[in-house]
Amino acid sequence: MEEVTKSYESLTAKQCISTLSGYIRQFRIPSLLTPVFMVIEVLMETIIPYLMADIIDNGVSKGDLAHIYRVGALMVAFALVSLTAGCLGAVFAAKASAGLSMNLRNAMYRNIQTFSFSNIDRFSTPGLITRLTTDVTNVQNAYQMLLRMCMRAPVSLILAMIMSFVISARLALVYLVAVIFLVLFFCMIIPKVTSYFSKVFVKYDDLNESVQENVSAIRVVKAFVREDAEKEKFEKAVGNLYGMFVRAEKMIITNMPVMQFTVYGCILAISWFGANMIVYGSLSTGELMSMLTYCMNILMNLMMLSVIFVMMTMSAASAKRITEVIREESDLSDPKDPLTTVKDGSITFENVSFGYNKTASEKVLRNINLKIESGQTIGIIGGTGSAKSTLVSLICRLYDVDEGSVKVGGADVRDYSMEVLRNRVAIVLQQNNIFSGSILDNLRWGDPDATDEECIRACRMASADEFIENFPEKYETHIEQGGSNVSGGQKQRLCIARALLKDPKIIIFDDSTSAVDTATDARIRKSLKNSMPDVTKIIIAQRISSIQDADAIIVLDDGIISGFGTHEELLKNNEIYRDVYGSQISGTGDFDRPA
Ligand SMILES: Nc1ncnc2c1ncn2[C@@H]1O[C@H](COP(=O)(O)OP(=O)(O)OP(=O)(O)O)[C@@H](O)[C@H]1O
Ligand SMILES: [Mg+2]
Repeated sequence: MEEVTKSYESLTAKQCISTLSGYIRQFRIPSLLTPVFMVIEVLMETIIPYLMADIIDNGVSKGDLAHIYRVGALMVAFALVSLTAGCLGAVFAAKASAGLSMNLRNAMYRNIQTFSFSNIDRFSTPGLITRLTTDVTNVQNAYQMLLRMCMRAPVSLILAMIMSFVISARLALVYLVAVIFLVLFFCMIIPKVTSYFSKVFVKYDDLNESVQENVSAIRVVKAFVREDAEKEKFEKAVGNLYGMFVRAEKMIITNMPVMQFTVYGCILAISWFGANMIVYGSLSTGELMSMLTYCMNILMNLMMLSVIFVMMTMSAASAKRITEVIREESDLSDPKDPLTTVKDGSITFENVSFGYNKTASEKVLRNINLKIESGQTIGIIGGTGSAKSTLVSLICRLYDVDEGSVKVGGADVRDYSMEVLRNRVAIVLQQNNIFSGSILDNLRWGDPDATDEECIRACRMASADEFIENFPEKYETHIEQGGSNVSGGQKQRLCIARALLKDPKIIIFDDSTSAVDTATDARIRKSLKNSMPDVTKIIIAQRISSIQDADAIIVLDDGIISGFGTHEELLKNNEIYRDVYGSQISGTGDFDRPA
């Protein structure tokens, strides 16, 4: 998270604008048309009070009915044009802003798909979801507002000013005083409001993250009877937000009395001076009427401008967060001339060191040297946090090494096309996921072209066929989101079958049978050995019995290899292994807590 904050600060406003404007381009026509229609609306609105004055002065006071009809008809026509232009402006603004939000979401989503594991670690999953949803909505609303108001408010303001000066320059001086007063007031209050709102949005973000985390882990929350604690936590967060919103809104509310004071002050002053001028014959009644309308126009637009300003600053934080995701470059990329075939399933580690945190001095894996022949079965064993998962993730290049090199089929993993490498090196991750859809849909993640027979064969190898056959709909059984309607062991076996369908040269099982009973575990291993003799099999396990008959076993101890050899060799010359074996046989201990 820290690194993001850093790059977040370093993104300049210019970078954000240039990135976002790229996604507006497709909708440039509605983006340009909106302000045009809004200006037409304003022009009409400005002329109408002028016509009104004309009706009063030349029609009503002179009793000229024909003039009233003529100018009245013109007023209606202008009002209709204004209405149409306003509607069209709104439609185009909606089109442009919804289009922008669609493009932003697509761009973010596309880029997220290229993210490596470490990119995702940096943003965190709930963080990415907030950016894809709330932040985009913020920017969409702000853009819509900007399109509709950026021209409308200033043009309306200026036109109303000009018209007032045309009618009576002396009377218009009253506005000038009011405008200066209001501008000073806004300058005072806006910085306070914006700084407050930016804080509110950070809190909002925290809230979103905690909601997403808790809802997706709702089962754990229930299992630990943490509902009350979580509720309390949530209520506190929501309460905080409430307090901050109220305080921010309170500040905005002070706008209202100040605005009203100014408006009524203006009306009073204009009526007073205007009446005097009418008495002396330098102003007509109609002109006074339109001056009052322009007065409202000017002050309202000024207020509108201040709202736009607050809204823009509020959405700036969201725009930055979106730009960050769009501009984030994947840590891993394909080389220029990538290798497209993996020769065999041999694996070599040469002086490999790796750490998740690049600035930390202590590496997670240190000085790893390994040579694994194609077709061998290798067991990996070690305490929790000893970097077993980390070690295997380097083989399919989920992360890049910091030092040394990892070779697969005789070539550095960084020289392969990532797609080819990951298709030939199948991994059943420790934290696995299946997706909503039928069992067959899920299996075909491994190979989209697999026939039903191939899927069934893979399930047979993974000992998944027995429970699938027991489902009423068999292979068409619908899996709920996250696989919530299958058991942990069933899910693991489906994940194994899915990986087998890839036709890999290397297959890695990261603790993949931890929820499967020992007999089934042994059956899976046996069928793999028989049906995939040329495939290199790497098995991370907690139980020594799961890997006892492997060609070689790696004993990992806190990021370094403490032993490498067959079961018999390790029993002879590796103390850790011997201890753990003893305690597992007698059933009194395990890797983390030898007897
Ligand atoms: N994505 C990550 N970001 C930062 N640190 C990580 C990440 N994944 C693992 N680590 C750290 O790296 C170390 C090794 O973790 P790893 O997952 O490889 O252990 P493991 O041997 O697979 O443990 P287990 O038996 O519990 O699965 C641990 O100290 C862990 O905290
Ligand atoms: Mg692990």
